[in-house]
Amino acid sequence: MGGPRISTPNVTSARVSDLEASGLEDLAWVLARAFRDNPLNLAVIGGSKERRVRSNRQGMRTTLAGALGRAMVLAAGSGSEPLAGGLVALPPLQWPLPPPPLGLQLRTLIGQGLRVARRWGQIFHELGSLHPIRPHWYLAVVGVEPDVQGRGVGSELLHHFTRQVDADAQPAYLETDRFENVALYEHFGFDVESEIRVRGVPVWRMWRDARSYPEQL
Ligand SMILES: CC(C)(COP(=O)(O)OP(=O)(O)OC[C@H]1O[C@@H](n2cnc3c(N)ncnc32)[C@H](O)[C@@H]1OP(=O)(O)O)[C@@H](O)C(=O)NCCC(=O)NCCS
Repeated sequence: MGGPRISTPNVTSARVSDLEASGLEDLAWVLARAFRDNPLNLAVIGGSKERRVRSNRQGMRTTLAGALGRAMVLAAGSGSEPLAGGLVALPPLQWPLPPPPLGLQLRTLIGQGLRVARRWGQIFHELGSLHPIRPHWYLAVVGVEPDVQGRGVGSELLHHFTRQVDADAQPAYLETDRFENVALYEHFGFDVESEIRVRGVPVWRMWRDARSYPEQL
């Protein structure tokens, strides 16, 4: 649904690697589908699944284009297999990413729809006003193809992320709009800092204290 994908990813052989620019479009589709049923997606975009995927895809393309070269952008997949998931995380002091060039901003407005783009803008502004000031890694996006969720791909991506965070001995921060994710992130060492409401949707802000590298060995 919503974009080119020929077959289901082979999750048992999925490997995590840095995304190359050529994989940007595929990963944008995967992430667009991953988030299509999340509460904020339903509240901000609404409509059919297809509509949400189309709208998300443009937002994800813009995020990925801005993140490549500035952030950790991981893709889970292997060789000729379709991608199964991806992760975007900003190193300390890289948040917020610079605004996209004007042409891309216009394409995003058109691709997402004006009202939807404005709503996301308000949400990011609201979340941004609560963003921690202390230097930290920011887990901006992690998503897995809906039909392979719950099979370890997200955990594999999160292991890569937390390994880097611990190698840097830095704290980490994220927000999530799915209660099911809270336990997953707690498993990776995050604690709930606060629960807020954004457009009426509960959102959990989570923080992970810095760990020194030897602690991990
Ligand atoms: C959150 C997400 C990235 C986790 O990836 P995943 O590959 O499904 O997760 P894993 O299989 O590695 O781990 C699953 C664990 O998380 C929990 N979980 C969270 N979301 C789940 C889902 N949709 N399906 C199954 N398990 C889920 C399970 O309880 C499981 O715990 P367990 O290991 O104790 O059984 C993925 O479910 C996803 O893309 N969700 C939609 C988008 C989203 O919410 N992204 C995070 C935004 S902050």
